[in-house]
Amino acid sequence: MQGVIQLLEKIAEQVRECRRCALAEGRTNAVPGVGPADARIMLIGEAPGEQEDLQGEPFVGNAGQMLTQLLATAGLDRSEAFITNIVKCRPPGNRDPHPDEVGACREYLDGQIACIRPEFVCTLGRPALQTLIDPTAGIMRVNGTVIERHGLTFVPLVHPAAGLHNPAMREPTTEGFQRLGEILRGTI
Ligand code: URA
Ligand code: SF4
Repeated sequence: MQGVIQLLEKIAEQVRECRRCALAEGRTNAVPGVGPADARIMLIGEAPGEQEDLQGEPFVGNAGQMLTQLLATAGLDRSEAFITNIVKCRPPGNRDPHPDEVGACREYLDGQIACIRPEFVCTLGRPALQTLIDPTAGIMRVNGTVIERHGLTFVPLVHPAAGLHNPAMREPTTEGFQRLGEILRGTI
C-alpha cells in the first residue's frame, strides 16, 4: 500500500510539472486527481474547468456539486472514489480536448489505473467513454451498464453536468448513477 501511495504521488508531481502538450500554456494549476489509493471505484471525467484549474482539484465547481449529489444516489461518498480526468489541464474556454492532447496525457491516467487497480472504472461523459472504452459507443445506450474491456470493468455514465445544460438530461443522468448503486450492491 505504501508503495502505491508513493507511486501515485510521483505521478501527481509529474503532472504538476508536465509540459507535454499545449494545454500547459493556459493552465493555472494542473489537476492530477484526488482520492484513496485503494479506492474501489475510479471516476474519470473530461478535463478540468475553471474552478478546477484555480483550485488544482477535480470536480469542485458546479459539475462537482452535481457529482457529489449523484454519488449519494449511488450510496457513495465522494471521498471513497478516486476522481480524475482524461486530460489533467484545462482547455482554453473549456473547449473539448484535442486528440493529441488526450494522447499526450494518457500515460498519467494509465499509471493511476495501474496503481489503484479499481474494481469499477466509471467514465463520466462521452469523451471519456470514447477514449477509454469504445470510440464509436453512444453514451445514452451504454449509460449505467457494465462493460468489460482491456482487462477492466467499466461503468460508463452520463456526465454529471449534462443536466445543468439540458434539463432533459437530468433523468438519464440520475438513472445511470442509480444503476451504478445497484451494481455496487450486487443487485445487477
Ligand atoms: N468536468 C469534468 O469533466 N471534470 C472536472 O474536473 C470538472 C468538470
Ligand atoms: Fe501534460 Fe496532460 Fe497537462 Fe498536457 S494536459 S500538459 S499532457 S498534464
